[in-house]
Amino acid sequence: MIFRQLFDATSGTYTYLLASRPGGEALIIDPVLEKVDRYLQLIRELDLKLVKAVDTHLHADHITGLGALRDRTHCITVMGEHTKADVVSMRLAEGDRLEIEGMRLDVLYTPGHTDDSYSYLFADRVFTGDTLLIRGTGRTDFQNGDPRAQYDSIFNKLLKLPETTLVYPAHDYKGDTVSTIGEEKLFNPRLKVKSMDEYAELMNNLKLPNPKMMDVAVPANMRVGLHQEEVAGKGWALTAAEAIAVRSRPDVAIVDLREKSEREKHGIIPGSLHAPYPSLQEEIGLGGMLHELATAAGKRIVFLCAFGERSAMAVRAAQDAGLKNSRHISGGIDAWTKANGPLARP
Ligand SMILES: [Fe+2]
Repeated sequence: MIFRQLFDATSGTYTYLLASRPGGEALIIDPVLEKVDRYLQLIRELDLKLVKAVDTHLHADHITGLGALRDRTHCITVMGEHTKADVVSMRLAEGDRLEIEGMRLDVLYTPGHTDDSYSYLFADRVFTGDTLLIRGTGRTDFQNGDPRAQYDSIFNKLLKLPETTLVYPAHDYKGDTVSTIGEEKLFNPRLKVKSMDEYAELMNNLKLPNPKMMDVAVPANMRVGLHQEEVAGKGWALTAAEAIAVRSRPDVAIVDLREKSEREKHGIIPGSLHAPYPSLQEEIGLGGMLHELATAAGKRIVFLCAFGERSAMAVRAAQDAGLKNSRHISGGIDAWTKANGPLARP
């Protein structure tokens, strides 16, 4: 495994880069906007391909690197399903898996610091965001924070992990880099409480000043979405209703870019083809399945994903590859479902 812990000194943020092998797919957790050049350099130096950028929650103390990484690498942006960020490519829920080549992270919903806080468990380590810090816990006094929810997340989820599990938080202000569940059980002063009420009392009386960046970071981090209007402005988008109207035409091929797990969970459009987003470049290039479909078979390719992010990137790439007839469905399967489009099980 390739594992790097990177630090942004301005915000005290830890960012994690993971991959299963040199030359393989990589994912990054909690990237900071100002450090994006550094991440991309390291990704090149380690010969990795960034495919997913994940935020554990909507940050209040720095601007996320998710949008910039998406724009520069065409990676998939990921957050939990409770996020208020406008559009991320993929939303995960408790019990889902966050997958890249050779790695699967378990998704734990751990609200409390915010109502969109998630932790990610991989083998011997857990990325706890700001839910559980080293000898501390994330504040619960803004962004729909809730000390009781946090108590539940920590005591009933994170502390139930094996004691040797390594704890990698999103922040540290003292210079600590890693801990374990066992160590936090014994030495974390915030966890020396006897009840949920006592924890809530403690957290409600911290009287911390708001983070310096909060007024800038929170609104900025809610708008990470790709500008789907630009794609629509070029005439490359269909609304869900338009797509429903043309879906059965013989010259239309709806191409689903989502992962298998997303298709199983949210359903598929009957008769659609499956071409997962990471294989897109191959498929639209000369000799690729979608290239053939568009040229030899004369089909109009209509891309679909979860919320229209991946499909908007795909339609741009397909246009660049010369597939001028290609379109995408604005708002993805989410919009399709809301417009009562037909769904089937994969
Ligand atoms: Fe936070």
